[in-house]
Amino acid sequence: MKTVVANWKMQLGVRESVALARGVLRGLRGMQDVPNIVLAPTFPALADVAKVLGRSRIQVAGQDMHAEEVGAHTGSVSVRVLKEVGARAVILGHSERRQQGETDEQVHRKVLLAMQQGLDVIVAVGEPVGVRTAGEASGYVHEQLQTIFARVEPRKRQRIAVAYEPLWAIGSGKTPSIHDVAEMHAEIKSQLTSLDIPEALVLYGGSVTPENAFEFLHHPSIDGVLVGGASVRIHSLMEIIHIASEVS
Ligand code: PGA
Repeated sequence: MKTVVANWKMQLGVRESVALARGVLRGLRGMQDVPNIVLAPTFPALADVAKVLGRSRIQVAGQDMHAEEVGAHTGSVSVRVLKEVGARAVILGHSERRQQGETDEQVHRKVLLAMQQGLDVIVAVGEPVGVRTAGEASGYVHEQLQTIFARVEPRKRQRIAVAYEPLWAIGSGKTPSIHDVAEMHAEIKSQLTSLDIPEALVLYGGSVTPENAFEFLHHPSIDGVLVGGASVRIHSLMEIIHIASEVS
């Protein structure tokens, strides 16, 4: 079964997020082979979206969390609050957080805390354009994974997903070739196996659209997609979910 993660970033208000979540539920009616779906709304919309989704199989995720359990951290959200409002997963290490100065070491601490607290984690990795053109993308991603997943011991049934998101592909309309993604995914999978988390999913993210989703989702080494821009409109999000369900 393939996975579709919708990262709504800071694009929608609370009412819009709730309406979109309702639209997804409606769109799934009668669908066979529903893929794994994760919706990541803005923090203030998490509780309402979680309520709308109720007992459906759709997961709600935070877009980030603090690396400490509790403390004087103005403007941050803790793992406890995420769980309280109904999140069952969290996106960590997104490049838009890293641009604010987040390091692999901090992402590592967040991963440990989220997993210890029973959340599923979706961890973003990926190289900047200069690293790709220098032919050093795989070494770069290798370093990221090594730091982020050191000493990680998943609980039973806890899900870990790694989203390979080349920085230059996010929100740019540019995507790597399927060959480059498949090659990177194979390397990520073999590294995750050597880090003792062979069951981790490997997703692709960066300018995924209904037009290119089939190619990515159809590939056996790609377990799913992390979608930003195309996930905030019901039609394009449902098209991608339909494609995921067909190739599942
Ligand atoms: P995009 O965003 O689909 O708009 O490129 C993906 C992401 O940032 O995760």
